[in-house]
Amino acid sequence: MTIPSLHKVPSEQAPMALLLEADPSAAIIARYLQDGHCVVARLDEAIVGVYVIKALSAETWELMNIAVAPERQGQGIGALLLRHAIDQARQLGAQRLELGTGSFGHQLTFYQRAGFRVVAVEPDYFLQHYPEPLFENGLQHRDRLRLALEL
Ligand SMILES: CC(C)(COP(=O)(O)OP(=O)(O)OC[C@H]1O[C@@H](n2cnc3c(N)ncnc32)[C@H](O)[C@@H]1OP(=O)(O)O)[C@@H](O)C(=O)NCCC(=O)NCCS
Repeated sequence: MTIPSLHKVPSEQAPMALLLEADPSAAIIARYLQDGHCVVARLDEAIVGVYVIKALSAETWELMNIAVAPERQGQGIGALLLRHAIDQARQLGAQRLELGTGSFGHQLTFYQRAGFRVVAVEPDYFLQHYPEPLFENGLQHRDRLRLALEL
């Protein structure tokens, strides 16, 4: 497969439909895009992936969103974006990269393969922060895990 090229884009050019694949709340996405660092993966002019990182403090950044176009998933683009997000956070001065994700599903494997460790559980997070129930593989997401990678 041709390797996608990665580009930082201003928040107005962030691919909203793709960001919604990872986070169903447009309102929450709009908030973190404001001061986030958004990078897209382009393949033959089409945007096939995206991530957003944001500073929580000088040393700690958060991966707010990462998504690959459904028809391009499973081809290594997510892993490429995740490695880039880790490198970018490090270059921007972060000593730790954190993220929040569901308590089950392939995303958990995806992040742990890159070295992320589970550091906390936020019980009922998805029930409290999202107006619609979130289902994956027939199971409702309730609790959010916090993962972190020391850089
Ligand atoms: C999570 C996501 C970004 C991964 O991107 P991707 O391009 O599909 O991932 P890669 O091809 O780089 O896969 C890396 C590893 O992730 C895991 N993985 C990715 N997609 C998977 C799937 N659909 N089922 C099972 N494992 C999967 C595998 O461990 C894979 O390793 P492998 O190469 O040995 O199969 C992508 O599935 C996605 O956009 N999902 C929807 C949005 C989302 O859930 N974002 C994360 C929110 S927490």
